[in-house]
Amino acid sequence: MRQHVNPLSKNFLEIEPIPPLNQIFENKNLPLHLDIGCAAGDYLFELALSNANWNYLGIEIREKLVLNANLKMKSMENKNLYFSFSNANNLFDGSNNNSLINATSSISLNFPDPWFKKKHHKRRVIQPKFINYLSSSMRIGSLIFIKTDVKELFDYMENTISDCANFKKLSLRDIKVSESFNPNKIKTNREKYVILNKLNIYESIYINI
Ligand SMILES: C[S@@+](CC[C@H](N)C(=O)[O-])C[C@H]1O[C@@H](n2cnc3c(N)ncnc32)[C@H](O)[C@@H]1O
Repeated sequence: MRQHVNPLSKNFLEIEPIPPLNQIFENKNLPLHLDIGCAAGDYLFELALSNANWNYLGIEIREKLVLNANLKMKSMENKNLYFSFSNANNLFDGSNNNSLINATSSISLNFPDPWFKKKHHKRRVIQPKFINYLSSSMRIGSLIFIKTDVKELFDYMENTISDCANFKKLSLRDIKVSESFNPNKIKTNREKYVILNKLNIYESIYINI
């Protein structure tokens, strides 16, 4: 399976709308967490199984991974998990999925593709347009969690989010982990690899004010 796809390719312009929340979750009123770039979804399976008090929605641009994850999800007892084959950058274009973003309590971007070459920076998932959209559409008080092992990407993400006056950086101490989407501090696959290899992890949390 391809490891990287170009999110700017015309194949990813058409977005399949995500069904209404009451059709994908047993209880649409639970707080909703979005994980952008969820790959095969292992992290979200662990989260959803261990924490039935939240709904989890994975967004992933590699279609095969999403098809497999949704098949696996169907055999789960908890109905608090769903995967969408989407390009996160186009997910909210036009009026697509406006109600979804209004319902979102938090978003994570864990170890996004770094796209190291300068000419490829525009393929990075965090873009000014995307962040501006989130800041104007997410509820006040909702959170964005970013995490990476690439310092240059971290600086770029921090600068892009900080340029948006509506997002204020929080310290990890400001968060009640037990009330967050990840009370058991579950790690993503990339995070496990990074820890095993003793690489640095850079992370920040932002609140929409
Ligand atoms: C390096 S992997 C990290 C996977 C996982 N979050 C982790 O921490 O183990 C980045 C993932 O983001 C997905 N991705 C990249 N650009 C995307 C986009 N624009 N929309 C949705 N997913 C995207 C990739 O296909 C890949 O699965």
